[in-house]
Amino acid sequence: MKQVHEVHFITELFGKYDGSSLQSYLEAGGFKPLQQLLAGGSEKILKEIDESGLQGRGGAAYPTGRKLRQFLSEKAPRKFVVCNADEGEPGTFKDRELLRRNIYQVIEGMIITAVCTQAGEGIIYVREEYTNIHDHIEQAIESCYQHNYLGKNILGSGFSFELRLFSGAGSYVCGEGFAMCESMEGKSGRPRTKPPYVKQAGFLNLPTLVINTETLSAIVSIIRHGAHEFRKYGTAESPGTKLISVSGKVERPGVYEIPFGLTINEIVNGLAGGMKNGKKGNFVQIGGASGGILPARLWDTKYTYEDFSRAGMSVGSGAIVVADTETKLLDYLKVVQDFFNHESCGKCTPCREGNRQLRIIFDKIAAGTATAEDFYRMEIVLDVMGSTSLCGSGKTEVVPFNTAIKYFPEEFAVFAEFEKRAVI
Ligand SMILES: Cc1cc2nc3c(=O)[nH]c(=O)nc-3n(C[C@H](O)[C@H](O)[C@H](O)COP(=O)(O)O)c2cc1C
Ligand code: SF4
Repeated sequence: MKQVHEVHFITELFGKYDGSSLQSYLEAGGFKPLQQLLAGGSEKILKEIDESGLQGRGGAAYPTGRKLRQFLSEKAPRKFVVCNADEGEPGTFKDRELLRRNIYQVIEGMIITAVCTQAGEGIIYVREEYTNIHDHIEQAIESCYQHNYLGKNILGSGFSFELRLFSGAGSYVCGEGFAMCESMEGKSGRPRTKPPYVKQAGFLNLPTLVINTETLSAIVSIIRHGAHEFRKYGTAESPGTKLISVSGKVERPGVYEIPFGLTINEIVNGLAGGMKNGKKGNFVQIGGASGGILPARLWDTKYTYEDFSRAGMSVGSGAIVVADTETKLLDYLKVVQDFFNHESCGKCTPCREGNRQLRIIFDKIAAGTATAEDFYRMEIVLDVMGSTSLCGSGKTEVVPFNTAIKYFPEEFAVFAEFEKRAVI
C-alpha cells in the first residue's frame, strides 16, 4: 500500500497559534480573509465559494455557495447564522477539534458568512456534552468583541454582527435545523414540517442559516488560498479535503484531514495505524450511527461522495467506526438501534413506532427467538421509516440496517435458523 499522509488545508493553523489568543491568531494570518472580503466585496467571495465546489459538511452535502446565495435572497429585519456544533452523531468528534484548536477560524467563518448573506446575528450551537470547551469559546467571542471583530460597525466597515454561544440540549435530533431552532426558543427540540424551510422561517420564525462548523472553517481556508488550491485535492465530484473522525478497533484513532479519494484501506491501515492488536477487519460504519456498513472486502472503496453513493451510503458526519471480526454485526446493529430508540423525538409515527418494532425484533434476536417473519417485518418497518419519517433521523436510520442486509446476507440467515430451531 502506498504511503498515505494527512493534509492540512482546513487544519493549517492547528498548533501554529495559541488557540486562546486573538493576537496569536492575527500573527498567524488570521482575519486576513475577512479583510479581503471587506476590501473586495461579497460577490467576489461568493464566486470563490461557488468555484471551490464546497459541499456542506453537516451531512446533506448541499452546495455551500448555492446555500449562501439562497439565504442572501431572504429579506427580513433580523437574520441569523447558526454554527451547527451539535455533533451528535456517534463516532463523530471532528468539529470538537475545530472548536478546541482553531475557534477563531470558526468565528471568522461566521462573520464572513454573515457579511456575505447580510445577517446581523449569530449563534454557535454547541453540543451540551462539550461543556469543557464552552468557556474557551466564550472567551474567544469576548476577545473578538473587544477588538471590534464582532459588534457594531466591524473594523469600520459599517457592518454589525452580534454573536453568542448556546449550549445544546443533549439530544441528537437537536442537530437538525428546525429542532435546533425549537431548542433555542426554549422548547422541546423537535423538527417542524416543511415548507417553510429553516432558511425562510427558522429561529423565532426568522430567516436562519444553519451551517456546519467544518463548512465555516473551510470557507475561511478557501478564501485564504483560493478555490483552485482547494480543488487541487479530491476528485471532480468531491473536491477538496474532509475532516474525518476514526474510532473503534484501530491503533491510532483520531481526527484526520484527508483529500477526498483515499480508500478505506488507506485510512484504516495507513493513517489510523492498522487494526488494533493485528486483528482482522470486519466492517466499517461510515458517517455516524445513521451511516452505511461497508464490509472489509470492499475497503478499496474510495472516500468520495460518488463512490459512497454507489455503495448505498454517504459521507455523512465524517465518522468512520472500525470493527474487527470479534465484533458481531447483529450485536453492533442492536447498539445502533438502541441509540435511535432512545433519541427518536417521538413526533412522527413511522420513526417512533418503527423504533419500537425494531427494538422488539432485536430483543428477539438476542433471546434466540426471532423468526423469518420477524425478518420480513423488519424489512417492511425499514421501508416505511425510510420513506415516510418526518426528519432525517428516521429517514437515514434505515441505512445501517439496509446496507448490513445487502452486504452481510448470511448474518440474517439466523432468522430462518431460529425458526427451524423453534419448530424442532
Ligand atoms: C437528526 C439530525 C441530526 C443532525 N446533526 C447534525 C450535527 O450534529 N451537525 C451538523 O452540522 N449537522 C447536523 N445535521 C444536519 C443539519 O440539519 C444541517 O443539514 C447542517 O447543519 C447544514 O450545514 P452544512 O450545509 O454546512 O452541511 C443533522 C441532521 C439531522 C436530520
Ligand atoms: S423522524 Fe424521528 S426524530 Fe425525526 S421527527 Fe420523526 S420521530 Fe422525531
